[in-house]
Amino acid sequence: MAIVSSSIGCSDSQHSRDNSRVVDAVSLPEDLGSHGEDGLRPKKWNDYIGQSALKEVLSIAVEASNAREEALDHVLLYGPPGLGKTTMALVLAEELGVKCRITSAPALERPRDIVGLLINLQPRELLFIDEIHRLSRVAEELLYPAMEDRRLDLTVGKGTISRVRAIELPPFTLVGATTRAGALSSPLRDRFGLVQRLDFYDLESLKAIIDRTSNLLGLALRPGASYEIARRCRGTPRIANRLLKRVRDFALVKGDLACIDSSLVDQALKLHCVDEKGLDATDRKFLEVLINVHGGGPVGLDTLAAALGEDSATLESVVEPFLLQSGFLNRTQRGRVITAAGRLHFQEKGF
Ligand SMILES: Nc1ncnc2c1ncn2[C@@H]1O[C@H](COP(=O)(O)OP(=O)(O)OP(=O)(O)O)[C@@H](O)[C@H]1O
Ligand SMILES: [Mg+2]
Repeated sequence: MAIVSSSIGCSDSQHSRDNSRVVDAVSLPEDLGSHGEDGLRPKKWNDYIGQSALKEVLSIAVEASNAREEALDHVLLYGPPGLGKTTMALVLAEELGVKCRITSAPALERPRDIVGLLINLQPRELLFIDEIHRLSRVAEELLYPAMEDRRLDLTVGKGTISRVRAIELPPFTLVGATTRAGALSSPLRDRFGLVQRLDFYDLESLKAIIDRTSNLLGLALRPGASYEIARRCRGTPRIANRLLKRVRDFALVKGDLACIDSSLVDQALKLHCVDEKGLDATDRKFLEVLINVHGGGPVGLDTLAAALGEDSATLESVVEPFLLQSGFLNRTQRGRVITAAGRLHFQEKGF
């Protein structure tokens, strides 16, 4: 087997020692704590940057429901991790002037978990269920009449003497969030009046998000610095905020907090092995094996996984999506193939 080298200043040992990736779109423990995700979340429409189509649809629906003093229709938000689904649910509650009760599907395993939440809702309140594609069947069946007729059907008693007792619920809004809309059952999906997809952010929106977070963190970025972060964050605000925090650490220790410019950003993120397109050591190793060991493909996923010492499912769900989205990789029936853009990026970087 050919040897795969790593020559971008990030050694293999450094990489394998640490499984969490700074460019991971899912939430990591380091995103919590002071100035963590909750503290950085926009609270109102105006702070929620980008996603203009989504904002337009939802702001009209909120304004109409405020005018009618009715509950907002149920909303399903779907899209990749870190794009602002939870944030949008909280903005909706704020703009409706109601509380948001937050839960996630795995916490609703027993019928009493969901019953308890539903019967305690106040009129027009928002119930946010994260990872809604993971709801158990029982929970899902309790939700159907609750969503459709604001009614909870409870079975009381057992066996032949059991009967169904209907409890009326106040008008409420269910906001479901998922990264896997396709995994939702169609009866559940059909009960949402507003189904909205979140897209990756463009550079301008990402720069605005980075500038906003810098203000909240009390940092003054020099012109060009936010662009350097924006182009490395894979279209994802969560990654943008995380990279900004790594830059802040670097500036504090190695540079000057008052002078965060593009060259400091470049140095800081090189240290974290993030290149100009947001690829990290794992992505680059994938390309390296594909190009240098397998001539650019086509090659089967299992073969690549064996060469990289990774498991195929992880490669498919964690590494490949961004390479596909960047246009660096193609999935064909015969296997994975590098694209011209992927080859060019690999050559330009010279690793
Ligand atoms: N439109 C936005 N404007 C400004 N900041 C944003 C925006 N969207 C997300 N963020 C920031 O990104 C972080 C992650 O967003 P959020 O938790 O809402 O993502 P998510 O889609 O719910 O992710 P997951 O699928 O992992 O639950 C938030 O802390 C917030 O600060
Ligand atoms: Mg979320």
